[in-house]
Amino acid sequence: MLYIGVDLGTSAVKLLLMDSEGKIKNIVSREYPLYFPHPGWSEQKPEDWWTQTVEGIKELIQDADKSQVAGISFGGQMHGLVILDKEDTVIRPAILWNDGRTYEECDYLNNVIGKEKLSEYTANISFTGFTAPKILWVKNKEPENFAKIEKIMLPKDYIAYKLTGVHCTDVSDASGMLLFDVKNRTWSKEMCEICGITEDKLAKCYESYEAVGTVLPEIADELGIPHNVVVAAGAGDNAAAAVGTGTVGDNMCNISLGTSGTIFISSKNFGVDKFNALHSFAHADGKYHLMGCMLSAASCNKWWMDEIIKTKEYANEQKGIEKLGENHVYFLPYLMGERSPHNNPNARATFIGMTMDTTREDMTQAVLEGVAFALRDSLEVAKSLGIKLERTKICGGGAKSPLWKKMIANILNLKVDVIESEEGPAMGGAMLAAVACGEYKSVEEIAAKVVKIVDTVEPDPELVKKYDERYAQFKEIYPACKPVFDIITK
Ligand code: XUL
Repeated sequence: MLYIGVDLGTSAVKLLLMDSEGKIKNIVSREYPLYFPHPGWSEQKPEDWWTQTVEGIKELIQDADKSQVAGISFGGQMHGLVILDKEDTVIRPAILWNDGRTYEECDYLNNVIGKEKLSEYTANISFTGFTAPKILWVKNKEPENFAKIEKIMLPKDYIAYKLTGVHCTDVSDASGMLLFDVKNRTWSKEMCEICGITEDKLAKCYESYEAVGTVLPEIADELGIPHNVVVAAGAGDNAAAAVGTGTVGDNMCNISLGTSGTIFISSKNFGVDKFNALHSFAHADGKYHLMGCMLSAASCNKWWMDEIIKTKEYANEQKGIEKLGENHVYFLPYLMGERSPHNNPNARATFIGMTMDTTREDMTQAVLEGVAFALRDSLEVAKSLGIKLERTKICGGGAKSPLWKKMIANILNLKVDVIESEEGPAMGGAMLAAVACGEYKSVEEIAAKVVKIVDTVEPDPELVKKYDERYAQFKEIYPACKPVFDIITK
């Protein structure tokens, strides 16, 4: 049988075709535009996601035996607000996970409703990217749109709806809405009330590996696939990536270097840290996870390469970087503000430490290191909770760079296990589809069977020591710059 994994990302939708044994048969990718209508705002058109997903699926399976396609599922960019009217038409462009406009609404939620209450209802506090503050923003700033809302969805759920006609979501993605009682895996009545919505505006919530329906006959005909193809609920992209890298069960770690950067720690048990610095979410394997999320990771390198030094030769630019642990330049990677652990939409990216002998390589190195240092910020929070990690998996576009993996291994002092394919969320999506179709009994079973580690990057104690000293310096930069960020973003 064949399974399709759809990774509905921020820059593109990536689609992966997997067979019953977990062998990847094909991968395709289709881009769509990202709109920044104001500094710090970030939007996309759900219609673009749908068009490119359909075209992508056609391309993905064009040379395959289409009669063998049995299931489709997803990993989707999280938190985005998609609102539909009573005709199921999209009311306004989706407001994305890296959008910082809900500063006031977050302030209201965290400080008027109060972090304690939010944590009691949802296991999390409010971050500008989360969905509930976006609903409040639409209510406050676009009341005419708010009045039209019939259904509130997350990005990948819009695709599942277009494929099946079913309004659905899954526990991992629902966790990032701040409307979900994570511990009990159910919608929070209190949060619905706080946001001024009724529970029927939210989709039915499934476990990630559960079937939500089958592909609508007219869509199946357009794609040339059987009418009984199962659509599984899927997961938020980080939980799907964790499935795709075998980060399931207890105390496993995955780092994703995509547009965002995340450190994801799976757990058999529900848990919340005292300051809610890490997100406490449901996992796609039926359990839980903690996660730190930085808003700009591989996107920092993309910005630096594409927009500033204007090259597409990423690997070539990294060739001359040899002096690891000795760079005198630092980079704060806050191009879209920052989520974990600073929770500050007004944070900005900064280079610091240049001298007349600073080279282009030093600056590129600082960008890559800055992302790794910022991931370490979240790892430090996890360590402060008593979580002990020795190793991590890695995925996402940034994981293609051997240099970046070496920096991650040494800056975080973790053994980095490299998986056969770095396509975490798309692979995870296909695996969830295979479980929903009954090909495997559980997410843990398929992960044990199909995920293969092909290499491990070991930290080097001398380099770890050098980077410890650098990290101690890096840590001083954000607090020193914070008052300036407040001034320049006024
Ligand atoms: C996670 C988050 C990002 C997006 C990126 O909380 O906001 O990782 O899911 O697609």
